[in-house]
Amino acid sequence: MKITFLGHASLLIETPKYSLLVDPFISGNPKASDKIQIKDIKPDYILVTHAHLDHTLDVEEIGKLHGSIVVSNFEIATHFEKKGMKAHPMNHGGSWKFPFGTLKYVNAIHTSSFDDGSYGGQPGGFVLSSEKKQVYIAGDTALTMDMKLIPLTTKLDLAILPIGDNFTMGVDDAIIASDFVECNTVLGYHYDTFGYIEIDHEMALQHFEKAGKKLHLLNIGEALTI
Ligand code: NI
Ligand code: MN
Repeated sequence: MKITFLGHASLLIETPKYSLLVDPFISGNPKASDKIQIKDIKPDYILVTHAHLDHTLDVEEIGKLHGSIVVSNFEIATHFEKKGMKAHPMNHGGSWKFPFGTLKYVNAIHTSSFDDGSYGGQPGGFVLSSEKKQVYIAGDTALTMDMKLIPLTTKLDLAILPIGDNFTMGVDDAIIASDFVECNTVLGYHYDTFGYIEIDHEMALQHFEKAGKKLHLLNIGEALTI
């Protein structure tokens, strides 16, 4: 499984046969828009953790170009279905076997309104199982005890955690989250995009290392293979 960081909380996850785009926010991210061309992204599925604009901005444009299927909570899936897109609705605690593998929609502590203030359901994250690898995509979330539920059923290979603080967990809570999900390999996201979430990379890497964990911080366009 190849995971490419597209900036902010946007990821492209590629399995041998399928590509999954997570929370696309590229055209509105000045740090990403000069490096990533959204016309080059051809996802089979678009996973959306919650409705905030910094996770949904490019869903419609990219999805309509390629007939991608939006996978999200019921409210967000319905929102994009009404715009003429294909969608698969889920809700918290539910799993579904897709052609690329299994997704479970799990709890996140955050909010989830659309840009116009309309209701975007409750926010979530995903546990993805594909090609014998299991990945937790936390979405925007605080540190929460619910994370302890994940390792009861899933042995994770990678935890993708927000580390930018202010709107989500910061670095030190993400270290505790990695304990809760029992995964010492972490890909950090949701940092540096705006002033509120700028982080000290060196300090973040050191804190993880001191805790005996590995933090990956990818440049935009850079990929990690697990
Ligand atoms: Ni958010
Ligand atoms: Mn966000």
